[in-house]
Amino acid sequence: MTETAIPMIARRSHGLTGTVAVPGDKSISHRSVMFGGLAVGETRVKGVLTGEDVLRTADAFRALGADIDQTDGGDWIIRGVGVGGLSEPADVLDMGNSGTGARLLLGILAGHGITAFMSGDASLRGRPMKRVIAPLEQMGARFVTRDGGRLPLAVTGAVEPIPIEYELPVASAQVKSAVLLAGLSARGATAVIEHKPTRDHTERLLQHFGATVTVEPLAEGSSRIAVAGQPELLAPEDAIQVPADPSSAAFPIVAGLIAEGSSLSLPGIGLNKTRTGLLTCLREMGADLHIDNVHDQGGEPVGDITVRASALKGIEVPPERAPSMIDEYPILAVAAACAEGRTMMRGIGELRVKESDRLAAVAALLRANGVTVEDGEDWMAVTGMGNEVPGGGTVLTHLDHRIGMSGLILGLAAKAPVRIDDGASIATSFPNFVDLMRGLGAEIDVERSNS
Ligand code: S3P
Repeated sequence: MTETAIPMIARRSHGLTGTVAVPGDKSISHRSVMFGGLAVGETRVKGVLTGEDVLRTADAFRALGADIDQTDGGDWIIRGVGVGGLSEPADVLDMGNSGTGARLLLGILAGHGITAFMSGDASLRGRPMKRVIAPLEQMGARFVTRDGGRLPLAVTGAVEPIPIEYELPVASAQVKSAVLLAGLSARGATAVIEHKPTRDHTERLLQHFGATVTVEPLAEGSSRIAVAGQPELLAPEDAIQVPADPSSAAFPIVAGLIAEGSSLSLPGIGLNKTRTGLLTCLREMGADLHIDNVHDQGGEPVGDITVRASALKGIEVPPERAPSMIDEYPILAVAAACAEGRTMMRGIGELRVKESDRLAAVAALLRANGVTVEDGEDWMAVTGMGNEVPGGGTVLTHLDHRIGMSGLILGLAAKAPVRIDDGASIATSFPNFVDLMRGLGAEIDVERSNS
């Protein structure tokens, strides 16, 4: 729990209705701030997620010399320093809860000849950083870390990093991005080989800022992604419009499916195909889910989603789908608990190194509420109970926003209320989650702080 824990409780709710204004995409918000901070000129970004994680990234970039303001209308204006132009920060960079902020920034710092210190909250300090440190050391950056390559750490970047070709040992967009971003400062092309497609927002947005990024398909679904070094990144002429976050939309979507008599519409949701695995699963489960008005918005596909309460059935989720829904397994598990039959999720070992050990946290979330879960090192099976999920349990969130939101959504369909020990972390990705859900008719209450 955080120092000032905010316990919350959700009760069975009927007939959620309305149009849901889902906040901006977290991944694209981080990258817009970072690339704007590295570009020459003034970048304007609309729809930036003002969650804690992105605010930490903005603070870090201010400490490194970028100028970042918000207009009265909520647009962000970023005046960057040019690739290679970041200056030494006077204090430790505190990345809060954000693995994306930390790992992408380490890639950027690895290509700057300065020394910086980085830390984060208890969750982030427990997460593995070796996965980015290993390739960044090959490129010439130096690190001093806590045992196991954990934060806090110190990094001294390479004045001119060595371009490498790096084969990803884990399917991680964060590792891919860290290497490509360090490659911006290298002379020559830096390449990453990935065997399973991971989210490609870095590639798309770097191109939007004028970098040359090539994606070459290799055998068996693998690809080689290369960035040409030392580009001049230029602030785009038109404002960047950040799509609504499909990973945040996942919570009201599942609420609309499992809370009896509901009907919700969610406009402008990001539909990049590296992010839509959950929608595929829900349709396979029998969800009444429609996507319309698909169009391009600043290099990313977006569309409008409508959902209606549905009788769901259990499915087998194939392991190769994992990277396209890696953040959605907690809420998929909640949908599975409210389905008829068993849902099997395989190839999900990466969940163990997210904001919490999500595999363990989700299993505990469901068991505390009377649902049968079997689990192994990299798999989980949930036995669905339809609308007979007992509920009545308290969910331990472990500083993990997605565990907190998943617990509350389960409470909307369970027979007895579901309590979460601490909803403070929800602000990292979905600051207005409770108000927004209540506006749709969800019975969620914030309890008085007990500390
Ligand atoms: C993210 C990548 C994913 C995801 C995270 C955001 C990104 O992590 O879990 O929430 O913005 O690149 P991995 O790429 O490490 O799986």
